[in-house]
Amino acid sequence: LRVGLLFGGCSGEHEVSIASARAIASALTTPPNGDRYDLLPVYIQKEGCWQAGRLAQQVLETGVALSDSDPAAAIHRWQFPSAIAEVEVWFPVLHGPNGEDGTVQGLLRLMQVPFVGSGVLASAMGMDKLAMKMAFAHAGLPQVQYLAVSRGEVWSNPCVFPQLCDRIETTLGYPCFVKPANLGSSVGISKVRTRGQLEAALDAAASYDRRLIVEAGVVAREVECAILGNDTPRASVVGEITYQSDFYDYETKYTLGRADLVIPAKLPTEIAETVQTMAIQAFKAIDGAGLARVDCFYIEASGAVLINEINTLPGFTATSMYPQLWQHSGLEFSELVHQLVQLALA
Ligand code: ADP
Ligand code: DAL
Ligand code: MG
Repeated sequence: LRVGLLFGGCSGEHEVSIASARAIASALTTPPNGDRYDLLPVYIQKEGCWQAGRLAQQVLETGVALSDSDPAAAIHRWQFPSAIAEVEVWFPVLHGPNGEDGTVQGLLRLMQVPFVGSGVLASAMGMDKLAMKMAFAHAGLPQVQYLAVSRGEVWSNPCVFPQLCDRIETTLGYPCFVKPANLGSSVGISKVRTRGQLEAALDAAASYDRRLIVEAGVVAREVECAILGNDTPRASVVGEITYQSDFYDYETKYTLGRADLVIPAKLPTEIAETVQTMAIQAFKAIDGAGLARVDCFYIEASGAVLINEINTLPGFTATSMYPQLWQHSGLEFSELVHQLVQLALA
């Protein structure tokens, strides 16, 4: 079976994607039940150019992104390598915008080739924090209080801006979190405690996205659950992220040793079960397929579990939360990858 491994991508999470793809490629070339997969790596450069063959193989082997100025890489942006016509199933390992958000899924759908993971709708909903929250609210899932904000309110009208800040202060208070609606890996997110910080954070988030969200900050433990399946999704054991920093920001996420994964999380059984049930509900609420990681806040003081977000293409290195959660649920990395390919074909 010819598997097209699609990685890299025009996103701030390009390097994370390369790391995930390396782990998946190694599992696909050493599958649990003999050598069934014929791997075709397809690398999307940061500016959008697709590469197959030697250059894609090189990035996969070295783990180093191709520089857009590399003369060997300089071909036309929308020229697709001819080898992609041979792909029988795609495995997109793209994180963030232009890959996890339904854009690439739409292209693969048009190619009429099956692919791993969620389709256009679930991918787009899982990337947009406002759309996601609407779906969660509709499914009755508890979540933090929030306000939707547009770039126009921040940038275009100096009379509206102070009123917007007043509204955030009275509705949500401090601390609150200001986020671009469509991003990942905490890029563009600020935790703010004063009016000055709020104004600066809104301005910064507006530079990333037209759609912004401001959320009431909660004091909570961060617990995560992995989902696998299509129409009858299964939930893994629950894990917890622990760290010393103010919040789980980009640096904490990607600097070795700054955060720890505790699997299974030390939680009362009924809390772990609540997280698992909510994770499956969240997956169904956006019409997810294949895989997702659902992240929740557990407020120990009140016993409440709130849903934070769903990631339809979660980090997938051998040490990432998603495969680790399955490993602790009795599913080895290579078997997990194999099941994902089978789910795409189902
Ligand atoms: P991303 O999609 O970039 O991962 P998140 O919404 O998960 O964005 O936010 C990143 C991190 O910021 C969270 O893991 C958490 O540490 C912190 N955070 C986000 N929103 C809140 C909130 N409402 N209350 C407390 N912490 C939050
Ligand atoms: N966006 C990163 C890859 C994650 O959610 O794991
Ligand atoms: Mg997150």
